[in-house]
Amino acid sequence: MMSRCSSFLEADRKYVWHPFTQERTAPPPLPVVRASGASLFLEDGRELLDMACSWWVNVHGHSHPKIAAALARQAATLEHVIFAGFTHEPAARLAEGLINVLPSPLCRVFYSDNGSTAVEVALKMAWQYWRNQGDQSRSLFFAMQGGYHGDTFGAMAVGRSSGYYEPFKDLLCRVVHLPFAPTWLGDAECEAREAAALARIDELLELHGREAAGFLAEPLVQGASGMNMCRPEFLRAVCQRMQARHIPVILDEVMTGFGRTGTMFAMEQAQVTPDLVCLSKGISGGFLPLAATVASQRIYDAFLGEDFHNAFAHGHSFTANPLGCAAGVASLALFEEEGTLARIGRIHAANLEWLAEVAQLPGVTRPRALGSIGAITLGAEKSDYHAQIGASVKAKCFERGLLIRPMGNVVYLMPPACISPQELQHAQSGLLDVLRETADLYT
Ligand SMILES: Cc1ncc(COP(=O)(O)O)c(C=O)c1O
Repeated sequence: MMSRCSSFLEADRKYVWHPFTQERTAPPPLPVVRASGASLFLEDGRELLDMACSWWVNVHGHSHPKIAAALARQAATLEHVIFAGFTHEPAARLAEGLINVLPSPLCRVFYSDNGSTAVEVALKMAWQYWRNQGDQSRSLFFAMQGGYHGDTFGAMAVGRSSGYYEPFKDLLCRVVHLPFAPTWLGDAECEAREAAALARIDELLELHGREAAGFLAEPLVQGASGMNMCRPEFLRAVCQRMQARHIPVILDEVMTGFGRTGTMFAMEQAQVTPDLVCLSKGISGGFLPLAATVASQRIYDAFLGEDFHNAFAHGHSFTANPLGCAAGVASLALFEEEGTLARIGRIHAANLEWLAEVAQLPGVTRPRALGSIGAITLGAEKSDYHAQIGASVKAKCFERGLLIRPMGNVVYLMPPACISPQELQHAQSGLLDVLRETADLYT
């Protein structure tokens, strides 16, 4: 007879292995039973304001009724179909919608199902782009120091310097990492730092430019390495150098896309048009796993031919899942209906005021803000994922009904666009109090 645990938490404890978790020492996971707007509700009735957008996926708010309704309609009509040799309205309409909001040379949408696969697809496209033209010499990628791009092999290789992948280092392909030039509010030395980084990038381009199959970067904000931000001018200068050498530029907008940085895509602020862009997380409003790698005509054309040998031989079982795409279409419509970018602009303004106050605290460094993201570093100037302070701040915020997810000594707020001014104020003042209470841990 089948045994059944008395609660789902017990079943979880017995049978589930959680991501990014040391299963021996981690406290039991929190049982979430419901979510609405900016809030998550736990089994025991407690409410948590989701200030991390549930791993950066949520855009408009949880369980948004319009996306939920679109999903219900789609589930009752067509839940899934193979996407090779078949198509369906949600995939075609979402592709159309994406092309309408992306800069014009980006013209072909290739679907997959998470951020890592969006990156994997882009790397493979850039790699094969050269080989389809008979050039076998392009055998490495350029990527930015500190960039994070996901946990599959290609994504790990380009994200290697983020420090997450020690056990796999012998299995990763060749990547040359370029210096990043971070900046923050009130930073007076940014231009000198950028000039030094660009001078080193020029040297590395001289050394390796002819071997490079592509260049990959998170535009404006490096999320997982500590919400490190750079100026649009810096990103533009790096991309221009790549494009001058015909090296395909791949922008990973998995985290920054769909309004997170205040514009629909971060690349708009840098006025950079990449050859490939990777989208996921917010693409479905944060409802379902879905991703897209969008290619320029130049890339797409290199895969056309009379037989299969230069086609892109890549696909996933759930490529272009109709439910994910229907959620994506509904989410795009909400940007106009709800003035999502204006809402994010108001969050940004409130974050700037809050950061001006937080930056006065001793031990708080590098206040930075873009779109809905407001971040600070505690203690040491540099981000340190293994710093313990984050765990203390997180636990104390939880007691105040706030879900934050610091990365070591980097603490940030990233609410969904629907957060009310009162909720945001509650989160900001709660975190400020916690920072005061924990000051002896980082000063
Ligand atoms: C910039 C960036 N790229 C790629 C990924 C990987 O996405 P996923 O976790 O959906 O595989 C992430 C995830 O956080 C990310 O922040």
